[in-house]
Amino acid sequence: MAQPAPLCYPSPSLIPFELLPAVTQVPTDTENSLTLSRSARLSVAPMMDWTDRHCRYLHRLLSRHVLLYTEMVTAPAVLHGDPDHLLGFDAAEHPVALQLGGSDPAELAAATKIAVARGYDEVNLNVGCPSDRVQSGRFGAVLMQEPALVAACAAAMQEAAGDVEVTVKCRIGVDEQEPREVLPDFLARVSAAGIRRFSIHARKAWLQGLSPKENRDIPPLDYGLALEMVGLFPGLEISVNGGIASLDAAEEFLDQGFHGVMIGRAAYHSPTDILAAADRRIYGAPGPDRDPFDVVEAMIPYIEAQLAAGQRLNRITRHMLGLFAGRPGARQWRRVLSEGAHLPDAGPALVLEARDAVLQAQNAAA
Ligand SMILES: Cc1cc2nc3c(=O)[nH]c(=O)nc-3n(C[C@H](O)[C@H](O)[C@H](O)COP(=O)(O)O)c2cc1C
Repeated sequence: MAQPAPLCYPSPSLIPFELLPAVTQVPTDTENSLTLSRSARLSVAPMMDWTDRHCRYLHRLLSRHVLLYTEMVTAPAVLHGDPDHLLGFDAAEHPVALQLGGSDPAELAAATKIAVARGYDEVNLNVGCPSDRVQSGRFGAVLMQEPALVAACAAAMQEAAGDVEVTVKCRIGVDEQEPREVLPDFLARVSAAGIRRFSIHARKAWLQGLSPKENRDIPPLDYGLALEMVGLFPGLEISVNGGIASLDAAEEFLDQGFHGVMIGRAAYHSPTDILAAADRRIYGAPGPDRDPFDVVEAMIPYIEAQLAAGQRLNRITRHMLGLFAGRPGARQWRRVLSEGAHLPDAGPALVLEARDAVLQAQNAAA
């Protein structure tokens, strides 16, 4: 893990003076927001096509407390699409946050109302996603260039959300912007609109020339700048995101003063490594760490119910491929599931067969 730069706060003169007082306001402390605030010490990042409801159900079996984010759903899709398909989730997933994409305050407010009525614990605005499709609608990272519009969107969303907390996920800047100037100004303006919790993907996005995938790896990470924001905005809760690949690293970031750590790819590819010990290590909960074999067992009734409702097995098991990552039998587990789960009559028996292949490999390795 890269060491953060020594603390060095940007000159307060970078931030319009009238915006500073609001960011130190004490947040509302309803039971829900306190609980969420604690849960946000560790979160699984929103990931399009990855953190769907099946993935979140699996992650919840590995950790009771981690905060789970949906994939981004655009506000127009929420307003005009199939709500059950786009917004449906299992009650077991709580605490769960819906991430919205958009830049029209009225649309975002209307979508937020629907999300809140559906029972989401938090609604998050995406100001970090750099894909072309997203840029063309003026959603995502391009909004780092329009903090006043983001503030207006966030204020409209928070008003629509009532007691449910609205949060923002952002970058440290885009293109030629100077993050050291842009980020504090962005946080000051958006927090003045009533937003208290932010996730910062601690790298720039390049809107031209890099693919979305490259934009998650190539622009350098600046954890030090994100940490400076923690010191500069003591009334805010800031989660750091980007390139965090282990629970050890997450604990180091929390020790440095970040309120939370958001993990994306590592949580998806190695869910047991990131999540199975999280309740004990991050939240101080008693009890043993989750065992991936127990998680497989617990997935069986869920899989049966989903198949009965018309779902195909591989839509669920694709998220389970990393469950034994780094452990003996991981290859056999992936092979059995990858070869069989797409077949029309595939069901829970295949998952149990894959589990037995892992057990066999582990016994052989012992
Ligand atoms: C497949 C994939 C899809 C993503 N989709 C979204 C998204 O819908 N909304 C969002 O804010 N970020 C999205 N991201 C970015 C992640 O939330 C996260 O910021 C990024 O992967 C960096 O964190 P990591 O290094 O822990 O993966 C996506 C990332 C991946 C890998």
